[in-house]
Amino acid sequence: MRNISDTLFLEPEVLPNEIYKIIQDAEKFYVIDAALELDLFEKTKEPISAYELAKIIGTNPKLTEKMCNILVAIGLLKKKENLYENSNIANMYLIKDSPYSQKNLLKLERSIVKNNWTKLIDALRNGFIEVKKDYSLREFSLAMAESAIRGELQKIVKILSQIEDMKKAKKLLDLGGGHGLYSIALAKIFSNLHVYILDFPQVIELVTKEFVEKYANYERIHLISADFTKDDIGNDYDIVFASHCLYGKNNQLLDILKKIHKSLNINGILISNHWYLNSNQEGPIRALLWELNLACFNFKDFDLFTLKEFISYLSKAGFLVEDIIDISNIDSPSKLVIARRI
Ligand SMILES: C[S@@+](CC[C@H](N)C(=O)[O-])C[C@H]1O[C@@H](n2cnc3c(N)ncnc32)[C@H](O)[C@@H]1O
Repeated sequence: MRNISDTLFLEPEVLPNEIYKIIQDAEKFYVIDAALELDLFEKTKEPISAYELAKIIGTNPKLTEKMCNILVAIGLLKKKENLYENSNIANMYLIKDSPYSQKNLLKLERSIVKNNWTKLIDALRNGFIEVKKDYSLREFSLAMAESAIRGELQKIVKILSQIEDMKKAKKLLDLGGGHGLYSIALAKIFSNLHVYILDFPQVIELVTKEFVEKYANYERIHLISADFTKDDIGNDYDIVFASHCLYGKNNQLLDILKKIHKSLNINGILISNHWYLNSNQEGPIRALLWELNLACFNFKDFDLFTLKEFISYLSKAGFLVEDIIDISNIDSPSKLVIARRI
C-alpha cells in the first residue's frame, strides 16, 4: 500500500478507464434513447440543420445541436457545414424502412434498461419482481426477427444448407419459429422441403403469416398454432430446428426434448440454437446479464444452462450430440448443437 502523501506524486498503477467507459456508455445510451424516441433518424436521411430538425421534432434548437454533435461523435450522424445527416450505420439499422432495421429490438432493449435494470436493487433485496412490459407481443416478435436478420440468420442458414441431413430432408419443424425467417430461407434453398413453423396462435396470427406473405408464400410452408409444452407438435420430421425457445433448466425442458425426440423419424436430427453460460459461470457477459435480467424481472428462479447441462438433458431424452458449432458474436453468444435421435 502506498503512503498517502506519495499518492500526490505517483500516478495509480492501474487506470480506472474500464469503470469510466461503462459510465460514459450509460450516458451515451440516454442520448441514443432520446434520439430514437424522437424518431430523429427518420428526419436526418437528408442533410438538415439542427435548427430545422428541432422545429420538426419539437425540441429546443440549441440543445438539439449539442445532442446532434454527440451523435456525430458516436458515429450515428455525419456533419458537413452545419448540416447533419445519417451515417451508414444509422441508415442501415435505425430507420424503419431498412430491411435490416433494428427499431423494434432497440425499443425492447431500451425498455429493459429503463424499466428493469433501474429496479435491480429492489430485486436484489426483495427477490423476483414482475415488471410491466411497454411493448406488445407483436413488437416482441418483430424484435426477434430483427435480432435474427442482423447476421445470425444468414450464418445459420449457410451452415444448415451444407449439412447432408438437410439436403435429404423432406419435413422440418421450426419449433417456436416466431417470425419464421429460418424456415422461409430453408424452403427457398431446398425446393422439396416442407417446413412447419410452430408458435403460439397469437404469434402465428400477428407476425408469422405476414412474414410468409412478405418473403415467400409457398405451399410448402405450413403454420402450426400450438403451445409446444401442452399440444401435439406433429410427427415424421426429418429435422427439428429449435432456436432460442428452449431456455430454462427444469423438468419441462426434459419433457419437451422427449416430445421432440418422439416427433422425429428414427435417425432424424434436432438442431438447436441457444445461449449458454460458460462452465465456470463467469461469462459470456451478454448471457450473464440476460440471465440476471430474466431471473429478476421475467421468470422466477430462472437459471440459464451451461452447454454441458444442456447436453446432459439431450442424452436423457435419447439424443446423441454429433456436432457443436460456435456462431457467437459480441451481442449473441449462440451455439448450434446438432443431436441425432437414437
Ligand atoms: C426468442 S423467440 C425465438 C424466435 C426464433 N426461433 C428465433 O430464433 O429468432 C422464442 C419463440 O418461441 C415461442 N415460444 C416460446 N414458448 C412457446 C411454447 N410453449 N409454444 C409455442 N411457442 C413458444 C415464442 O412465442 C417466440 O416466438
